Amino acid sequence: MCGIIGIVGDAPVADRLVDGLKRMEYRGYDSSGICTIVDGQLVRRRAEGKLANLVEVLKHDPADGLIGIAHTRWATHGAPTSSNAHPHATEEVALVHNGIIENFRPLREQMAGEGRNFESQTDTEVVVHLVSREVEKGRSPQEAVREVLPQLRGAFALAIAFKSHPDILIGARLGSPLVVGYGEGEMFLGSDALALAPLTQKIAYLEEGDWVVLTKSGATIYDAENNEVTREVQASGATAAAIEKGNYRHYMQKEIYEQPTVVAQTLGSYLRREDNSVALPQFDFDLTAIKRITIVACGTSYYAAMVAKYWFEQFARVPVDLDFASEFRYRDPVLEDGGLALFISQSGETADTLAALRHCKENGQIIGVVVNVPTSSMAREADLLLPTHAGPEIGVASTKAFTCQLAVLAALAAHMAVKKGLMSREEEQEVVKHLLEAPAALNAALDHDDDIAAMAHLIAPARDVLYLGRGQDYPLAMEGALKLKEISYIHAEGYASGEMKHGPIALIDEAVPVIVLAPSGPLFEKTVSNMEEVRARGGQVVLISDAEGLALAGEGCIATIEMPNVHPLIAPLVYSVPVQLLAYHTACVKGTDVDQPRNLAKSVTVE
Ligand code: F6R
Repeated sequence: MCGIIGIVGDAPVADRLVDGLKRMEYRGYDSSGICTIVDGQLVRRRAEGKLANLVEVLKHDPADGLIGIAHTRWATHGAPTSSNAHPHATEEVALVHNGIIENFRPLREQMAGEGRNFESQTDTEVVVHLVSREVEKGRSPQEAVREVLPQLRGAFALAIAFKSHPDILIGARLGSPLVVGYGEGEMFLGSDALALAPLTQKIAYLEEGDWVVLTKSGATIYDAENNEVTREVQASGATAAAIEKGNYRHYMQKEIYEQPTVVAQTLGSYLRREDNSVALPQFDFDLTAIKRITIVACGTSYYAAMVAKYWFEQFARVPVDLDFASEFRYRDPVLEDGGLALFISQSGETADTLAALRHCKENGQIIGVVVNVPTSSMAREADLLLPTHAGPEIGVASTKAFTCQLAVLAALAAHMAVKKGLMSREEEQEVVKHLLEAPAALNAALDHDDDIAAMAHLIAPARDVLYLGRGQDYPLAMEGALKLKEISYIHAEGYASGEMKHGPIALIDEAVPVIVLAPSGPLFEKTVSNMEEVRARGGQVVLISDAEGLALAGEGCIATIEMPNVHPLIAPLVYSVPVQLLAYHTACVKGTDVDQPRNLAKSVTVE
């Protein structure tokens, strides 16, 4: 999603603005731009495509001001051209925006009627005209912004520069995050703490509806009612090192390899090794009174929710409703008072999930949040905050956040079962013991990286790929297909293996590789029967199983991948590794942009 950075500086800002944009490249973007104030003029430079293009433009046409704003744009309204790239500007005002202004059409018509000239197809340009109109009437920047913000519907983070006030920037947020950074005689604005990491470690998160006036010496923050407020200045904790690739070729590869460590870290904060028990953070509601859980998420986080449904129902005997956030809000779901609504998100900022969370809050639900960014909007709005400790995830395709989500969800399901008296002390100890085996098993799965890299050459030429799994491996089939689609651009579908014969089996021929996820265990034979149905129709099967499973069913497959023999509880964590690596290596064979795949954004902060 779009990235914003602003600097009220003591020295030229252009290079630092561009460096800030580089740190936000992971969010996904398709054009970029910068505006500084030089000799009392707004100087704007913009470029389509990668940041290197903007750097090239700046080489020929520098923008050497001491104050400036910059932006990476992920196109929503209007193609990713340089004329749609931010900053948008009038003679007086320049502005960058993350989010969507939903009522831009009537506002644009109204201002076009006043003779204002629009240069882009964006929703954003309307905001710059609104602010400019107020400034042109003689209003101060503060008065202009105060006048305009209530007119905007939708979601936004804004950073605004004013030609006639080269000493201030104004920022505002509603629905999209914005961070204020405190430097030594300089001040900063950024979409996230990572953007500001080497500039300052002192940051304050703006709250919903806040707006802020930055000068070189400080920030004055106002809330939605225009009252001056203070927001806690905290240590950011984001380090530039955390977002470096180290010796890895891609962030995604690094993050796949971090999984044994970060899953261990995450489990460490939910399991007590001394007595093999589950320990959750303190909260003030009665878990045993929960009659129903509603889980809402998007994408990979949704597949973690699908796995968790098995655990909540099996261990804690609580019925679970599950929905994509984008569907949930609009289907008028039945929410009984006191139900637990659980939101799963890496970023904690996904617009659909956040809106669903707020809907549930308004409807009397207890809000549980499993989230990787502890300072995110979702984390702040939770009654029960369950952080994953995956560390910054930079690769657009989610990997380590997923396995950490699974670790937290398994602990929560076991805890509920214990509290409800459905899991004995011995059973709890068994569950904890198996969960604690996950990091070593993840390492053992990573040992097969070379085999998977070799196998990727079989998958790379395919146009379509099917993934099959049963039970808790079915969501993994969906996750495997999603990973492959996202980064290798090969069409892939994940199916419940028993559902194949009800239609998709018609697709089977020699050109469609079928990846079967089948750890040995209670469902193994059933999955293998479905695999045989595929093979009988000429299907080319890749079997991912343990040594026992491969010995029983591996013969005749075009390839096999051996996983360690693990307890079914941790199989979804362990079998994530081969599907992630398979997608990763296939993308490498195809030469796609693994960490920033086309059209995708890391955190989708628009509906
Ligand atoms: C897939 C992927 C996306 C995200 C989805 C939700 O690899 O990264 O599908 O899982 O956009 O994002 P979060 O978890 O941040 O809410």
